[in-house]
Order: sequence, then structure tokens, then C-alpha cells
Amino acid sequence: MIQVENLSKQYNIPRKKPGFVGSIQSLFSTQYETKTAVDNISFQIERGEMVGFIGPNGAGKSTTIKMLTGILVPTAGELRVHGRVPHKHREENAANIGVVFGQRTQLWWDLPLVESFELLKYIYKVPEARFKKNLQFLTDLLDVGTFIHTPVRQLSLGQRMRADLLASLLHDPSILFLDEPTIGLDALAKEKIRELLVSINKEKNVTVLLTTHDMVDIEQTCNRMVIIDKGNKIYDGGIEEIKNNYGKIRTLVVDFKNTPKLQPIDAVISISNEGLTYKIQFEKDILSASKLISMISEHNELVDLSIQEPEIENIIREIYKGEDDKAGLQRVAL
Ligand SMILES: Nc1ncnc2c1ncn2[C@@H]1O[C@H](COP(=O)(O)OP(=O)(O)O)[C@@H](O)[C@H]1O
Ligand SMILES: [Mg+2]
Repeated sequence: MIQVENLSKQYNIPRKKPGFVGSIQSLFSTQYETKTAVDNISFQIERGEMVGFIGPNGAGKSTTIKMLTGILVPTAGELRVHGRVPHKHREENAANIGVVFGQRTQLWWDLPLVESFELLKYIYKVPEARFKKNLQFLTDLLDVGTFIHTPVRQLSLGQRMRADLLASLLHDPSILFLDEPTIGLDALAKEKIRELLVSINKEKNVTVLLTTHDMVDIEQTCNRMVIIDKGNKIYDGGIEEIKNNYGKIRTLVVDFKNTPKLQPIDAVISISNEGLTYKIQFEKDILSASKLISMISEHNELVDLSIQEPEIENIIREIYKGEDDKAGLQRVAL
């Protein structure tokens, strides 16, 4: 469905000379510096996959999405969406993909929502019968019916995002690109968008590539993620795998009856407490949870206990950190 091979993108940024004279000189001869936004990345996505595309700010996510949608021309590398080179066949590509940019809308600000949809019908040349059917289906699915006659500028951000999602799906695209679709939304609206993405994928077998800052988006919608940092791909694999490979730290939360006596244990990384509730971080590969519990309970009386899995967000942070000090490269290659 999507094939990306050794894809790179550099931006040429005009270098301004300082001062007034510099500005005048720049009018005649502009010097450029190049900025590599995407640096030789490769990946493939199969039909029906939901892939999270994540990375810190400025990692190159939006640039990649823009190349996939044909808005930007790559500097180097091969790129195919549905067998087509997006920037060379922009129209055919557009007929097959849906795009949502969370930061801006593709809807007409002053028009009632339904009129934006009508316009998109003409733009995408959707046959009337199919348009009606899709509009009905999507209006129900995305719960847009109550504000379909409202101008876009009067919608809440969450409503607008659902409307944008609907707009992107009217022409039955087989691939949906979403660039930060949950940005700025409150928790409830985020949750709704996540659920909708999952049902769109399920109901219509739409392939989804999603960029986001929010790891919970990824955890709840995708089974695979591609991580990029500074234009480089640093991870591509399953969400479960990443937890297993990186998440070697567990936290044992224990309520003690009295202030505990705790001996130093090799596998224990940190201990913190609030009152008699203690959080003990340990490396599960060195010491099993049951062993740790039995060691602790030997000298202390436990009231309650639980074991916390690592948050995916912490794991990702660890991966970024590893990239920075390069010591992580090997771990990343796992
Ligand atoms: N139009 C542009 N001109 C010059 N540099 C750009 C442009 N768009 C993005 N960049 C730079 O390219 C890098 C990647 O940006 P972007 O793809 O937007 O990252 P992300 O979406 O992951 O935050 C950043 O360093 C950004 O400053
Ligand atoms: Mg971006």
C-alpha cells in the first residue's frame, strides 16, 4: 500500500545577511542553507494496517506525510502510494487517500458543514448515490448530525475534527493520513477520535498512518509504530515488542503495615514513598517480582501490593534519550 525507500527531504532556507545593507544584498543574491528534515528513511505499510508515526517536535513527521500526500517533492529516494508516485500523480493519488491535518481544516470556515461536504463531492467527483450513502453512514458513525447545518467557525475543536474526518472519508479513500488529529483536544474528545479511527479501520478496512505527540493515541489505535528522530528512523515494530524490549523496569507498589526495614537489593533501582505506600522500581530480568516480594515480606508485614507495567511514554523517552547519547543505538536495533 505504501512503500518508502531511502526517502530524504532537504529544505533550502534563505540565509539573511544581518542589517539593512544585508537585506538589500539578499535581494540580489540570496544564499541558502540546507536543512535535512527527513534523512534516508524506509518503511512499508500493508493494506488495513494502523501505524503510529511518532517522534519529537521537528523530527520530520509532517514532512514525510506531505511527501506521501504529494504536497512536497522528495529530495531523494523512492516513494509509492498504491503503486503511484504521489507528487507526479497528485490527482490520482488524492482520489485514493484521505488527509486530515489537525492544525488546519479543509472545510470552508463560513459555510454550514453540509455545504462543505457538497463541495467536496464535486471536487472529488463522488457519484450522487455513493455520496448520499457515505454521508449517511459517516454522519451516524462520527455523530455529526446535530451540527451538520452549523458553520465551521462555530464548532468546537472536537466537533471540527470529527467533521474533518468525515470530509476526508467521503470519497472512500483506502488510506487515511492523519497529522496530529488529536492536538488541542480535551481528554474526552481525544477518546472519541481514537474510537472513531478504530471503527473506520474496522468497518472500511482503511489503512491508517497517524502522527501524534500523544502516546495514548498510539496505544489505543495502532498495533505498530514507526519512530523517527531528527529525520532518522529509530524504531519500526510492534507496540507489544517495544514494551518487552525496552520495558525491563517494573514498579512494585506496596502498602506496609509499619515503617519497613529494607535491605539494599541489586535489582532495585529506586525506592520512594508516601507515608506507608512505597514504590520500588526494579529490573524484572534480574529479579522476578515474586522473589522481590518474598524478600521484602520476610521482615515486614504487607497490607497490599500491585505491580505497575512501564508506561509506553517512559519507554519512548528512554529510546529518544538512547539516541541522543548514541549508547542506545544497539538497543534500538533490537
Ligand atoms: N517549509 C519549511 N522550510 C524550512 N524548514 C522546514 C519547513 N518545514 C519544516 N521544516 C523543518 O524541518 C524539520 C522537520 O519538520 P516537520 O516535518 O514539520 O517535523 P514534525 O512534524 O515531526 O514536527 C524541522 O527542523 C523544521 O523546522
Ligand atoms: Mg508536524
